[in-house]
Amino acid sequence: MKSAFLNKDKQLVVDFRSKPKPKSHELLIKVHATSVNPSDWKQMKNFAKLGLSYHAGADFSGVVEEVGEKVTRFKKGDAVFAHKGPGGGAASEYLTVHENHVLSVPDNVSLDHAAGVPTAAITAWHGLITYGNLKPGHKVLIIGASGGVGSYAIQIAKAFDAEVTGVSGGESIEMVKQLGADHVIDYKKNNVVKEERLFGKFDLILDMVSIGHYKEYFPLLAPKGQYVTSVTTKQNFIGKLKGLFSFGRKKANVIFVPTRGLEQLKEIRKLMEKGQIVTPVHDTFTLDDINQAYDLSKRGGVNGKIIIQMVS
Ligand SMILES: NC(=O)c1ccc[n+]([C@@H]2O[C@H](COP(=O)([O-])OP(=O)(O)OC[C@H]3O[C@@H](n4cnc5c(N)ncnc54)[C@H](OP(=O)(O)O)[C@@H]3O)[C@@H](O)[C@H]2O)c1
Repeated sequence: MKSAFLNKDKQLVVDFRSKPKPKSHELLIKVHATSVNPSDWKQMKNFAKLGLSYHAGADFSGVVEEVGEKVTRFKKGDAVFAHKGPGGGAASEYLTVHENHVLSVPDNVSLDHAAGVPTAAITAWHGLITYGNLKPGHKVLIIGASGGVGSYAIQIAKAFDAEVTGVSGGESIEMVKQLGADHVIDYKKNNVVKEERLFGKFDLILDMVSIGHYKEYFPLLAPKGQYVTSVTTKQNFIGKLKGLFSFGRKKANVIFVPTRGLEQLKEIRKLMEKGQIVTPVHDTFTLDDINQAYDLSKRGGVNGKIIIQMVS
């Protein structure tokens, strides 16, 4: 089977490897698609530096081709999707996974769209719900609203009846509105942290860009408001430590996606089923062009998700 991995020269290549065999509780999945998350190429770079092996691809959708002898939840032909974690080998024609770590793809969702969801939507869920304690009626500011995480965050926040202000720029503004944002601020024209009309307004700020110091955003927070970011900079780590001792005052949090966000993905799946979460696709590549897909993600300006299909 074809698979994308780091070769001995530390280059990401697509080459042939042997097809895996499912163990007793595992499924053999014929992968339909994976999607690109910045964490894929960031972690790959670190693995390359350390000379470690790396199999590309965290998220996948596909169809069960074979089941291990003790599998009870799925059968051949079922459409499934899940998060295998960066380096999980989802950029492969086949993979094996424990039956308890996948979910069925809702009937109303395409396999391409399902592949976009896991990492980005789980991150958005953790940012808004697990760490952000979002409640109906809360006012939330989503910075990086047009990106992978941001585009799901808008939809999850709207499903929780929050009032959403998205920060994005240029051409992506229309998409952010279409995904449900009540207000959009163009970061190319306005400096959000200097907009006095926004001071004290937000119960939650979810920042997927983190270009300024987190403290710059505190004036925008309501009393007890919280700033949560998915971007792991040294500064944000310090903010997280300080947040632990804030005793109810405005807190900064850095969020991490647990390897298994399955409980969150189950909740997200319910919203997919109801049509409350869709995947905006920025571009689609084939496995052979995975380097182009990663380069596009590195260059930035991605609105929604980049999908990589295993089938040409
Ligand atoms: N810690 C974790 O567990 C975790 C998990 C997932 C992701 N992440 C991190 O979270 C970040 C976002 O991930 P992602 O998947 O959403 O990335 P992405 O798909 O590349 O999205 C980033 C978005 O930010 C927009 N943007 C750039 N500059 C901006 C600005 N100044 N203000 C507002 N928007 C701006 C970009 O669009 P335009 O350039 O068109 O404006 C793009 O749509 C990445 O750094 C990623 O590594 C962390």
